[in-house]
Amino acid sequence: MAERLRVAVLGLGGMGRPMATNLVRAGLPTFVWNRSPERAREIGEHGAEVADTPADAVRRADVVITMVTDADAVLSIATDQGMLAAMPQGAIWAQMSTIGVAGTERLARLVSEQRPDVVLLDAPVAGSRGPAEQGKLVILASGPDEARDRISPLFDVLGQRTAWVGPVGAGSRIKLVNNLLLAFIAEGLAESIALGQSLGLDRQAVLNAFQGSPLVAPWAAEKLQRIGQSDYSPQYPLSLALKDVDLALEGVEADRFPVADSLAAQWRWVVERGLGGEDVTVVTRALED
Ligand SMILES: NC(=O)c1ccc[n+]([C@@H]2O[C@H](COP(=O)([O-])OP(=O)(O)OC[C@H]3O[C@@H](n4cnc5c(N)ncnc54)[C@H](OP(=O)(O)O)[C@@H]3O)[C@@H](O)[C@H]2O)c1
Repeated sequence: MAERLRVAVLGLGGMGRPMATNLVRAGLPTFVWNRSPERAREIGEHGAEVADTPADAVRRADVVITMVTDADAVLSIATDQGMLAAMPQGAIWAQMSTIGVAGTERLARLVSEQRPDVVLLDAPVAGSRGPAEQGKLVILASGPDEARDRISPLFDVLGQRTAWVGPVGAGSRIKLVNNLLLAFIAEGLAESIALGQSLGLDRQAVLNAFQGSPLVAPWAAEKLQRIGQSDYSPQYPLSLALKDVDLALEGVEADRFPVADSLAAQWRWVVERGLGGEDVTVVTRALED
């Protein structure tokens, strides 16, 4: 069934590019668009059809995936750049960027007012660039039941698992919960290593002590390995991780989450030092300086 789906991928950054590449490799007719055209050209060489505008990319697509930075970017593509108006009757819009609850509600309102025939799925992903390359994302899908059978073969190309979590908005909520846990783990690594330094310990001795510890989950173990090599190349850039903590705190009583609030303030300080494009683990380096 997946072979018959024609897909448009809008946004070819660290996540969208490997996702689109996997769809091409799986043999799905894939149309791509990116704001900076050079990123699209490379996927074009692998067999995707490169479009000049979002509207051109989606005109013949059964499924449209948006994978860009934030809600403003998604809305600008959908409205100002004509994506929504150009989508074929009854097409599916799988919104996979992390845009939070309010952003997703804005999109749901837009679709119901302007294109009620379009099926909106709120389907953010867990897993960073490595899992995206390997087709091993976890897709936190939410939306109308009737879209599941149509979209599942495509989600199976992108991810190792799709969790259907409820109506539109549920996927974005679970994503924020997931990423807050991830933020605390990243911060735990950063502050533990910085504490080791403040206590006069050798950094490698701290990293060795963590090895094989039941406290260190596989995600953290991989991050510790990179920290050990002083490799802060972006898998999950700090600026995006901060955006996600901010989205989590948006619309809830921040007083109830003082630790998350203070983590966001500390990460903002690191971003302001120009390190937002590095991996989230760069907080470790910033705290050690
Ligand atoms: N990286 C991760 O680990 C990870 C994991 C799960 C979910 N996510 C989420 O997935 C989404 C994409 O992440 P990423 O890592 O691919 O980010 P990225 O590498 O920074 O790429 C961002 C993409 O958004 C596009 N974009 C930004 N503003 C735009 C605008 N105003 N109009 C049109 N396009 C715009 C960029 O286009 P240009 O190329 O022209 O700049 C680029 O294609 C984000 O919502 C992120 O939070 C990321």
